[in-house]
Amino acid sequence: MFKVKKSPFMGVYWIYRGKNRFLATKNMVPGFKSCNEELIKVKGEEFRVWDPRRSKAAAYILKKGENFPITEKSKILYLGIASGTTASYLSDIIGKKGVIFGIDVSPIALMPLINIARKRENICPILSDARKPWNYSNIVPTVEVMYCDVAQPNPSQIVSINSNVFLRDKGFLLLAVKASSIDISRKPQEIYREEEMRLRDGGFEILDVVNLEPYHRKHAMIVAVKEGL
Ligand SMILES: C[S@@+](CC[C@H](N)C(=O)[O-])C[C@H]1O[C@@H](n2cnc3c(N)ncnc32)[C@H](O)[C@@H]1O
Repeated sequence: MFKVKKSPFMGVYWIYRGKNRFLATKNMVPGFKSCNEELIKVKGEEFRVWDPRRSKAAAYILKKGENFPITEKSKILYLGIASGTTASYLSDIIGKKGVIFGIDVSPIALMPLINIARKRENICPILSDARKPWNYSNIVPTVEVMYCDVAQPNPSQIVSINSNVFLRDKGFLLLAVKASSIDISRKPQEIYREEEMRLRDGGFEILDVVNLEPYHRKHAMIVAVKEGL
């Protein structure tokens, strides 16, 4: 028998089975799976188990992150959307009135997302380089949230050039920092602090920095808000 409880974040649930609990979202497309996750039916509703090992957003929530600004109807610019594993869960959360503009530079990574976007009409895949926002500025509008997971050596620079164009004042940023993509020889904590500083210099207020170990090695999630004028 399963029990469902709401988490503190809209559209995110805890499913209890005996002593175990799992993070989950309500499946917007019944029967849909992104990576062979378990589907659980409770009182006629279908939930998808959200694995923190496959999604840094889920790891952030499981590691007691306190600022998850994605809610129903959110408009999101997602840099490094890849095949859409995390995006499919965000798609459940934002519902039919929200939208995710997903940028990825790799056609191979993006290919499975085309099929996902056929089923989930709130995802718009865009094959493009996040270092060149002018190439998609005719498609992407102003958004409330930017989610960045590009595993590049200069993530805050990529965030900065995109947030200048697309992120509204007081809009939120979730930045997944992979320390080994920035400098493999330095301590991850030092790198996270440096990225925090860069974001501050770029006009962000830092709300939260959460180490994503053991789910993602040498990764942290930084959540920040763009300061208004
Ligand atoms: C770690 S994966 C993203 C995983 C995904 N966020 C998820 O949780 O399902 C990083 C992705 O960033 C993409 N990427 C790397 N550099 C990029 C760039 N300059 N512009 C757009 N995408 C980029 C890669 O192709 C890759 O698909």
